[in-house]
Amino acid sequence: MQPTFLLIGDGRVSTHFGRYFRLLGLRFQSWSRKEDLSTLAKRAEASSHILCLISDPAIEPFLSSNGLLFSNQILVHASGSLVTPLAHGAHPLMTFVDTQPYDMETYTLETYTSIPFVLEKGGPGFENLLPGLPNPHFEIDPRLKPLYHALCVMSGNFTVLLWQKVFSEFENTLGLPREALFPYLQRVTQNLRVDAEQALTGPLARGDHKAIAGHLRALGADPFAEVYRAFVKTVESRPDLSESLSPHTGGPK
Ligand SMILES: NC(=O)c1ccc[n+]([C@@H]2O[C@H](COP(=O)([O-])OP(=O)(O)OC[C@H]3O[C@@H](n4cnc5c(N)ncnc54)[C@H](OP(=O)(O)O)[C@@H]3O)[C@@H](O)[C@H]2O)c1
Repeated sequence: MQPTFLLIGDGRVSTHFGRYFRLLGLRFQSWSRKEDLSTLAKRAEASSHILCLISDPAIEPFLSSNGLLFSNQILVHASGSLVTPLAHGAHPLMTFVDTQPYDMETYTLETYTSIPFVLEKGGPGFENLLPGLPNPHFEIDPRLKPLYHALCVMSGNFTVLLWQKVFSEFENTLGLPREALFPYLQRVTQNLRVDAEQALTGPLARGDHKAIAGHLRALGADPFAEVYRAFVKTVESRPDLSESLSPHTGGPK
């Protein structure tokens, strides 16, 4: 039997899932809290799968208080860190932003089908949770979800904060266009994909203490000076890199 999905929420992930499901030709309806509960009850009854795509802290309270509206449907949430007996986790390993209508066209079927889903080991298989989706999928021990999600946040969200800072300083302090950074950004990403272990360059890789001290002086009281110091400390604690930052290191590598 063809599945019918109900997407709960009208935020970023729900909007993208709706677009993806439309491109795949899957049957789905949506509901958000702007509508009444009787509509939710009707749509839930007509669904085989309910995807609770709302903010993490709201997932358990929402499922507990509306549990009576759901009977035999398969309940799924998309949180990367939450583990709950009320729904199965299927985390799309991707960043979804509020998308301008003109940018929506860049989200093609190929874009969406390439997104990996990370499931909880011991739960139902991907084809049971999200039937009809051809995406790659993986399973992890549910106890490792907070660590898994911390790693996703550090890699995807923290780098966004760094790049936002750099774009803003280029434009506002240095009088340089942010576009000047795009080839650099592109190459950093490419190098990480090709050989992550060789991707680090610059004073931390070379053990250039003089340059590092100069950078910290230039950053002064900027809160990002603490971020810089934290990275220096992290590199010092990494056995594969600590040599480069040790005070006894000779010339640049
Ligand atoms: N965005 C991403 O990059 C991303 C990536 C992977 C997974 N996820 C996961 O996807 C899920 C949704 O995230 P999102 O980014 O789409 O969030 P979002 O854009 O902030 O949207 C949150 C949605 O939750 C609804 N909501 C909040 N509190 C609610 C409540 N008490 N009852 C009912 N609805 C409520 C909001 O409704 P109102 O508009 O009425 O407040 C809104 O529709 C989360 O579990 C998140 O961890 C997000």
